[in-house]
Amino acid sequence: MDSSKLVNGFSKKTKAEKMEWLQQTYFQNQPASVEVLKHYWNSDPQLQAKHEEFIENTLTNFYMPLGIAPNFKINDQILAIPMVIEESSVVAAASKAAKFWASRGGFKTRILNNLKEGQVHFSYTGNPEKLQAFFKRNHSSFLESLVPLATRMEKRGGGIHALVLKDKTHLIPNYYQLHLQFKTADAMGANFINSCLEHLANEFEEQITNAPEFDSLETPIKIFMSILSNYVPECLVEARVECAVKDLGTYGDLDAAAFAQKFVEAIEIATEEPYRAVTHNKGIMNGIDSVVLATGNDFRAVEAGVHAFAARDGKYRSLSEASIENDTFHFRLQVPLALGTVGGLTKLHPLVRWCLELLGNPGAEQLMQIVAAAGLAQNFAAVQSLVTTGIQKGHMKMHLLNLLNQKEATAPQKEAALEYFKTHVVSAASVEEFLKSEQ
Ligand code: MEV
Repeated sequence: MDSSKLVNGFSKKTKAEKMEWLQQTYFQNQPASVEVLKHYWNSDPQLQAKHEEFIENTLTNFYMPLGIAPNFKINDQILAIPMVIEESSVVAAASKAAKFWASRGGFKTRILNNLKEGQVHFSYTGNPEKLQAFFKRNHSSFLESLVPLATRMEKRGGGIHALVLKDKTHLIPNYYQLHLQFKTADAMGANFINSCLEHLANEFEEQITNAPEFDSLETPIKIFMSILSNYVPECLVEARVECAVKDLGTYGDLDAAAFAQKFVEAIEIATEEPYRAVTHNKGIMNGIDSVVLATGNDFRAVEAGVHAFAARDGKYRSLSEASIENDTFHFRLQVPLALGTVGGLTKLHPLVRWCLELLGNPGAEQLMQIVAAAGLAQNFAAVQSLVTTGIQKGHMKMHLLNLLNQKEATAPQKEAALEYFKTHVVSAASVEEFLKSEQ
């Protein structure tokens, strides 16, 4: 181990000192390494400072492309959806699917439920009935103790929805939870939820310690932690599309009916086979994450919650469903999405603000529906390609510019390549060949 690379007090160094330390420690042979970082600083020092304050030890900005998928018809509204993603074919695929469905009725979306949850995790070794009776007797006082924390949220239409005691001793001996449900209006609500849970944990511990029925000499409970859950199966949104099978169009040798059948069978495979389900759902997350990021939401929370939901019956399955009923093709996605359009980065990040404005400043429930539609669009585009041309044709076409840039192609070479590859198969090798022939 090279202990000269260990550092104390890194966060206390100035930005210049941090860069200097990195240069000396990790980039000795690359004198331009600091310049690379500086190159991505914003020319407006105030804006740069604002971004630096989002996290600790910031040195520069990390660019991701922000693209737009237009023509999303969602519940009779036409939206251009902002997407932040590095994968070359995602925005094109979403745009293609959006346009396809805009002329076939568009996306229909609805909120199925909008509750968020959190738990105080604790152990209790005494008689369960005694605990239940204590909880029941003090239930309203626990809720009352949360009133000062919840008042502002209540004014915005949210608040505490329910408080229950859950016996989890079938999972771990002596393990119980105080399970709180919340409505958080247009906020994602993590800070509100966690503050309420920590307050409740203190209140619960204090009351039970002083309760006459428990031995006052010992604390009858041990609190492990109080934290929201990113598993939000009760914060659920649905997006769906449907059209007459005959309107699905033809794909080479596949007529509309054969395409619909193959599409439904592809979804069945993703429902039953986890190897396929994970990739299938990854395609859905291409759409979901990119809008979640563009709107300043927590994509890690969304990812964790969505995948847990995909495995809710004990097996990891497709999040989307497809069927053919009475010559109509139905395609549907249900996903848990805990999103916010106020708080967090929504006001602080100028591009997040711009993206929300582009979407008409939606509330959280509207944003959930937009994000679900983007996920379904992405899934439709992927499966449509997979069961017809295969994924690589479109994917490599979109990847062409990356390949050309990797090879440092000039502008005229790029232009010639874009023309040439309209009729030729794109691959790393064929691009290299083409560039050689152009020299
Ligand atoms: C690639 O990012 C996503 C796909 O693999 C999704 C899928 O296979 O359904 C194309």
